[in-house]
This record gives sequence, structure tokens and C-alpha cells, in this order.
Amino acid sequence: MPIGWRAAMSAALYGEAGFFVAGAGPAAHFRTSAHGVPVLATAVLRLLDRVDAALGRPDRLDVVDVGAGRGELLTTLVGLAPPELAARLRPTAVELAPRPAALPATVDWRPDPPERVAGLLLGTEWLDNVPLEVATPGPTGWRRVLVDPATGAESIGGPVDAAEADWLARWWPVPAHPGPADRAEIGLSRDAAWASTLSVLERGLALAVDYGHLRDGRPPAGTLTGFRAGRQVPPVPDGSSDLTAHVAVDAVGTAGAAVAGTPYTLVRQRAALRALGADGARPALALAATDPAGYVRALARASTAAELTDPAGLGAHWWLLQPVDVDPPAVLPPGL
Ligand SMILES: C[S@@+](CC[C@H](N)C(=O)[O-])C[C@H]1O[C@@H](n2cnc3c(N)ncnc32)[C@H](O)[C@@H]1O
Repeated sequence: MPIGWRAAMSAALYGEAGFFVAGAGPAAHFRTSAHGVPVLATAVLRLLDRVDAALGRPDRLDVVDVGAGRGELLTTLVGLAPPELAARLRPTAVELAPRPAALPATVDWRPDPPERVAGLLLGTEWLDNVPLEVATPGPTGWRRVLVDPATGAESIGGPVDAAEADWLARWWPVPAHPGPADRAEIGLSRDAAWASTLSVLERGLALAVDYGHLRDGRPPAGTLTGFRAGRQVPPVPDGSSDLTAHVAVDAVGTAGAAVAGTPYTLVRQRAALRALGADGARPALALAATDPAGYVRALARASTAAELTDPAGLGAHWWLLQPVDVDPPAVLPPGL
């Protein structure tokens, strides 16, 4: 029976046998920036240090990773933190999948955000997996796209509801000459997810890292797709693959800023990582003669940084930075 994409994605990714809760974890199927550790973790640690300073180096500093995968980023972050910081750090993974056995004992693991957070709140490639509705333009307005969960076959349903129509009117321009291939991915559920997560952040900085688009460059045919075992596959919501759609990052930022009461900052990952000192530059060749093992390690770091800052790849990801009850220049990386 055809159903809306939001319900289909929810069941396929997060239902009892859902792809993310019952499978081997995202890292087994695709590469995200968080797997480029420790380069990303080092950059996040620098960001965390700014947040820590802005909060007056409190006795307890939260770092909360929403959609933590298998805890890769937090595990590395905890390992890299200097002892003075590690003693005050309260790392929390918010994840629907079960707690991995090898996770450090200091990392709290829970299915929903803590009630109050003061520190750094992260979501790397989380929002693109928040289920959403898909619509197609018809002669009388946007209509919902339905999908058969077993086959992925699509059909056209009834009109979108009033809140969805408002979101589309604000954030997704109707194509000049609408055709059957045109579709919009309604980011309302992502805006709500980000706003609700931000509502627990009392002070500090929230950072979402994801691939996405802006209002003047929405992809006319949408971006919803599947990934399985490192390969892009057609989006069939039967639980056998990841299902992902790029994020309308400006809409998400606007929803979050309304909760935070502070403007958001949106930059490409390439610029953000460079501002935080990860530039992908190769180590000096002279190091190879004096410290061959150090040279190899530095080379590996440089190649990961190059991958994360590649303008045609992960470097094009967006960093959405949302300060809450702190002076924005105090927490944002210098130069952004
Ligand atoms: C693409 S993975 C990203 C994992 C990791 N952050 C990374 O960058 O490699 C998205 C993760 O978000 C989790 N997730 C999605 N919605 C969630 C929610 N509402 N609460 C907690 N976890 C969620 C999924 O289970 C999945 O592990």
C-alpha cells in the first residue's frame, strides 16, 4: 500500500528492523566526515575549547552528538581531550541504535537529548536522515508523492497540508515550467528536529554538518536516494539501505535561530576546517628523513584533511553554527 515518504523512511530507517537500528552502522555503508577522524575531532576540539572559554571553563562541559552513529566522533574526541578538559567533559551520544560494546565508559548513550545542555551540541550527517515528505507540483498546487515500501514504486497522492504548503511557498520555489520529474523535499520535519534539539541547549554552540542546498539553488528533481555497502542505490524504503536527502540548510538555520534568538552562521566545511587549522597541506619532505613514522602519520592526517576539504566532495558540506546565549564572535572560529 503506498504511503507518504516520511512514514516510509521512518519505518525503513528506525523501525524494529530499521536500517540504522538493526544493521552494522553507517560506517559500514558510506563515508561521512565523522569517519575522517581524528581530523574532524581535532577541529571540533578547537571549537569546543572556544565554547569552554566563552562559558568560563565550567566544572561540567557538555558535548552532545545527536545521531552519533556508532560513537566514532565522540570516542576520538574523548581520546584527544587534554586531562584537564577530559575531567570536566560530559560526552553524550544521542542515538536510536544500541550502545556499541567498545564505547568508552565515560560516554553516556541515550535515545533522546538530555533535558539541559551547556556546551557543544553536534549533529554530523544527522539531518539528512530525518524522514521527510516529498511533493510534486500539479495544476492546483503541490501534491504528496507516495511510495510502495516493498518496491519503491511511486504514485501521486492528495494535496500537501497547510503547514507543508506554507513551507514550500517560503522555501522551495515552484519551477517555471512544472513537469512530472519536478519534486520538492519538504524540510519541515528537519526544521522541527533542529529547533527541538536546540531548545535543550541553554548556553553554548550547536553545529550541524551536512550536505544541503539554499533557496536559490534547490535541486529541481530532489535528491532522495539510497546507499548500501558503499554504493548509491535507488531509494526503496524496505529497510535494506540508507535513505537520505540533502538538507534545506537555510530553512533549518532560520528555524533554529528563532529558538536561539541569535543569528546562525552558514559556511562550507572547507572554510570551517581551514579556519580551525585543518588545511590538508602535506608535511615537509625533510620530516621523512628525520622522523619517518611521524612523516607517515602527518601524511595520513593531511590526506584525510584534503578529503574533508575537497570542494567537489565532503568540503562542500555545510556547517550550520548556532550560538545560544553567548557572544557569537567568542565561539565562532576566527575568520568566519
Ligand atoms: C548518517 S548517520 C551519521 C552518523 C555519524 N554522525 C557520522 O557522521 O558518521 C545518521 C545517524 O543518525 C541517527 N539518528 C537519526 N535520527 C535520530 C534521532 N531522532 N535520534 C537519535 N539518532 C538519530 C541514525 O540512527 C544514524 O545512526
